[in-house]
Amino acid sequence: MKILICGKGGSGKSTIASILAKNLLQKGYRVLVVDTDESNYGLNNQLGLESPTSLMDQMGGKKTLLSKILTAYYDGKKTPVINQNWTIDQIPVECISKKDDLYLMQIGKLQHFGEGCACPMGGLSKDFVTHLKLEPKDVAIIDTEAGTEHLARGVATGVDVVLMVLDPSYESIKLSKKTAAMVGEANKPVYFILNKINDQLAAAMIQQLGEQKVIAQIPFSSEIQEKGLSGEEMDVTASGLDDVTNFVIQTSQRSQN
Ligand SMILES: Nc1ncnc2c1ncn2[C@@H]1O[C@H](COP(=O)(O)OP(=O)(O)OP(=O)(O)O)[C@@H](O)[C@H]1O
Ligand SMILES: [Mg+2]
Repeated sequence: MKILICGKGGSGKSTIASILAKNLLQKGYRVLVVDTDESNYGLNNQLGLESPTSLMDQMGGKKTLLSKILTAYYDGKKTPVINQNWTIDQIPVECISKKDDLYLMQIGKLQHFGEGCACPMGGLSKDFVTHLKLEPKDVAIIDTEAGTEHLARGVATGVDVVLMVLDPSYESIKLSKKTAAMVGEANKPVYFILNKINDQLAAAMIQQLGEQKVIAQIPFSSEIQEKGLSGEEMDVTASGLDDVTNFVIQTSQRSQN
């Protein structure tokens, strides 16, 4: 089961990805979190793990990757970098940071002034996610950068479901329409998680989004906010987060029947 988590900047994608990963681990799943955000650096802290070598660096760095992508493009190949399926155990060991059955990998990060765009990371993210092959008790959680660029790049091609995180803002509601349309073009299901809300805000958002599509409501929590400020591991519980976990488990079980 592969889940892509997306949404507006700061809506809570990485926080929810981290807590979901820990909840699934507790339920006996092996969980791979794939950090495809080329700008933010804190997901490993939220998971309580070291930062691994990025897959891009392991493959020779951004320039090497870009030249492979360009060569493949001119040769008319659709999968420029990875040509065969990978299981979690086949990911190079230096690209994995892990504790028990919780695994983290990073696609690649921007490092230097003037280095150019993040296209190589986008291409590698799509390629990696598409070629990742999972066992029945594996879940991959793909944490994305803010907005819709990853959808434009086709990173969702290989996933089973897209979960969009919305904070209570007009921009999130507006982005949900665009996200739903783009995910629909990929023929993938999309569901919404309301985050940082209270009952009144949730009711107003559900009116706009439709009840069936909203799988969880996570209230604003000062515990999460404080851990978010100190960079501590996100080992918190909340009813809304259990709803996300149960949704993922049920979807995973259904997909195997
Ligand atoms: N339910 C919540 N209650 C209070 N604060 C929250 C909640 N969820 C997330 N936060 C805080 O909101 C901030 C943004 O969260 P997070 O980094 O997870 O968002 P993001 O969507 O991944 O951001 P980005 O787009 O930059 O990747 C963090 O400081 C986090 O601690
Ligand atoms: Mg994030």
